Amino acid sequence: MTTFLATPRDWPQVLLGRREAIAADPFDLDAGVRAGAFEGLRRAVRDLGATGTIAPVAASGLRGRGGAGFPTGEKWRAAAAQPATQRYVVANGYGADPATQTDQALLLADPWSVIEGLVIAAFAVGATEAILAVRNDDPALVTKLEGAVLAAEEAGFAGDDVAGSGHRVTVTVRPVQGAYMLGEETVLLKALEGKRGQPDQRPPYPAERGLFDRPTVVNNVQTLAAVPWIASHGGEAFAAIGSKSSPGTILVQLRGPAGAGIAEVPLGTPLRDLVQLAGGTGGRAVKAVLVGGPTGGFLPGDLLDTAYEFDALREQGAHIGSGSVVVADDRSCIVDLARLLTRFSADNACGKTIPCRIGLKRLDEIGDRASSGRPKPTDPQLLDDLAHDVAASALCDHERLATLAFTSAMRHFRPEVDDHLLRSTCPAGVCTPIAVGAGTAPGSR
Ligand SMILES: Cc1cc2nc3c(=O)[nH]c(=O)nc-3n(C[C@H](O)[C@H](O)[C@H](O)COP(=O)(O)O)c2cc1C
Ligand code: SF4
Repeated sequence: MTTFLATPRDWPQVLLGRREAIAADPFDLDAGVRAGAFEGLRRAVRDLGATGTIAPVAASGLRGRGGAGFPTGEKWRAAAAQPATQRYVVANGYGADPATQTDQALLLADPWSVIEGLVIAAFAVGATEAILAVRNDDPALVTKLEGAVLAAEEAGFAGDDVAGSGHRVTVTVRPVQGAYMLGEETVLLKALEGKRGQPDQRPPYPAERGLFDRPTVVNNVQTLAAVPWIASHGGEAFAAIGSKSSPGTILVQLRGPAGAGIAEVPLGTPLRDLVQLAGGTGGRAVKAVLVGGPTGGFLPGDLLDTAYEFDALREQGAHIGSGSVVVADDRSCIVDLARLLTRFSADNACGKTIPCRIGLKRLDEIGDRASSGRPKPTDPQLLDDLAHDVAASALCDHERLATLAFTSAMRHFRPEVDDHLLRSTCPAGVCTPIAVGAGTAPGSR
């Protein structure tokens, strides 16, 4: 059961703006339309025209919510510019991070925003096929989404003549089954083709050669859900929300010692405010905030003024990733957390490339030795070298990001890493059988 956290009344809502109005039955199309669903599509068809719809999306500065923050307008332009008789748009609703439910929560709270955004994207880039890809582990959600698509088609918002435009956009819901890597766009496209998936080297990007080798826009469901708002209100209005380089809002999955839930927040919100939304730490010191999910990075408690947005987080060695924000108080051990995250990344590497397959395993082993009081004298140097080399030889973003747990720990919590690797001590008293408390103070940098 999703808990939506209350946010300050003056925070703009782009994604969840009509959630309460349609809460009685979010899958009732009439209720959705009464609350404003498909107004953006009507405006796109009536006032903007197909290619004219890309301009406000580009002007809005919308960046992909799937983690990488790629400019959406640029992606759409690239796909539209490819000479092709067939193009596709795929909504990535896979939600790979098992601890983050933001995308599923959005689909449950306001499916119309995603369906409408998908149809607008297809209309804009000249695609006749639009696919909503979701996990297959929630059959009830799949059935509801299929019903919603059918209702939208019957009402003329999708299908043979979208909103009277003469354009055809067939929307299909595709449940897919797989592991963590299936959320990566090239793996997802292979799954949609019915093939076994491992990431492809890019370029070519899917916008040039994607599903069945045709130009394909792959966008996260939150990215698409922002599009109807932009079509209705204009790119400039959207660009005025959030931070200059990361406009708009995003759904974050907050988790801390005192609370948890999902909230829509303007990008650029200081981490400090997110810690408060998560319920604070019950009076304990914030030791770190883990941002980005399993391949995320740690920011220390004295960097809580950092803006939660693509570029500011990247500068500090973290990233938006899955939209997960976990608050760790002074009882947590950063090395132990980095070890757990690296284990997850190593276990989920697809195995296609050796530096990732072997390198992450070796990093995982260093984490094991560090947290069990058995470091080798060479481990400090090996950790530095491996973390750098694995990221530098990355074939896909998984490998590029999977080292962040340890690199951000080394960057912001070096004394604590050294306590484990050089002195076999765990200041937080989490790792056993390491001696407790003999090293640096918890939370020191
Ligand atoms: C290991 C891995 C898992 C990913 N999982 C997801 C996911 O669950 N959902 C998603 O939208 N993007 C995910 N991505 C990012 C996608 O590859 C892609 O960048 C994104 O769907 C593009 O949409 P956007 O431009 O709207 O962000 C993942 C990337 C990697 C490397
Ligand atoms: S970098 Fe890792 S996850 Fe990516 S393709 Fe290679 S083995 Fe697979």
